[in-house]
Amino acid sequence: MSKQWLREHKKDHFYKEAKRTGHRSRASFKLMQINKRFKLFKKGNRVVDLGAAPGGWSQVAKELVGEKGTVVAVDLVRIEPIEGVIFIQGDMTAKTTREKVLEEMDVADIVISDMSPKLSGNYSMDQARSAYLVEHALDFAIMVLRPGGNFVTKIFEGEDFPDLLKEIRDRFNNVKVFSPEASRKSSSEVYIVARGFKGRRKDDIEDELDTPDEEAPKDAPEDWV
Ligand SMILES: C[S@@+](CC[C@H](N)C(=O)[O-])C[C@H]1O[C@@H](n2cnc3c(N)ncnc32)[C@H](O)[C@@H]1O
Repeated sequence: MSKQWLREHKKDHFYKEAKRTGHRSRASFKLMQINKRFKLFKKGNRVVDLGAAPGGWSQVAKELVGEKGTVVAVDLVRIEPIEGVIFIQGDMTAKTTREKVLEEMDVADIVISDMSPKLSGNYSMDQARSAYLVEHALDFAIMVLRPGGNFVTKIFEGEDFPDLLKEIRDRFNNVKVFSPEASRKSSSEVYIVARGFKGRRKDDIEDELDTPDEEAPKDAPEDWV
């Protein structure tokens, strides 16, 4: 992180707002803006938050679902505890982590994923890694969502985007691509907001039984996240 990046970051409107309102990250505002536009959350909902650190989205999700709602948050790195949020440290591309999440919540109303790879600076590689995380988030959403449930995922625009969007359209009744105002102007991230899960198919269950417990693809670089 360069000094210039830190200086710019601190001048940032959403960074200041996050500090002022006691939210953990500027990313909190992205989820608030997504929910303002699409009305995804209801009191009492069961939510899984993938790539949750430092906890901004989990905080917002917990506020939105209220005391009766449940939030399970997952990340490679630890987060400071959030009242009412269950945290699991682990890699969502690993079967062992998915199983731990399912032990805490076997049916969810909403799956949200803000997972991002560590950026390498090589755009096509970063885009491919982002797409790989989206594939895993989607597979997990298919495993855990109730029919009618909602799914939100971050994705970097690029080569894999059209195919993933098509895959998501195939599984949900209403799918939109949204760019929250709180995303940085320079960023190529967008969010896919998918409502109305069509339900699991017979081949999903067969795929699940076949899934090997691998942490990353065979050709993954060493610093893969
Ligand atoms: C942009 S941050 C999320 C910010 C968060 N939504 C918030 O509001 O505070 C992306 C996160 O994705 C996590 N991540 C990346 N790959 C992951 C994986 N395979 N499993 C779980 N988390 C992952 C990273 O550790 C990082 O904390």
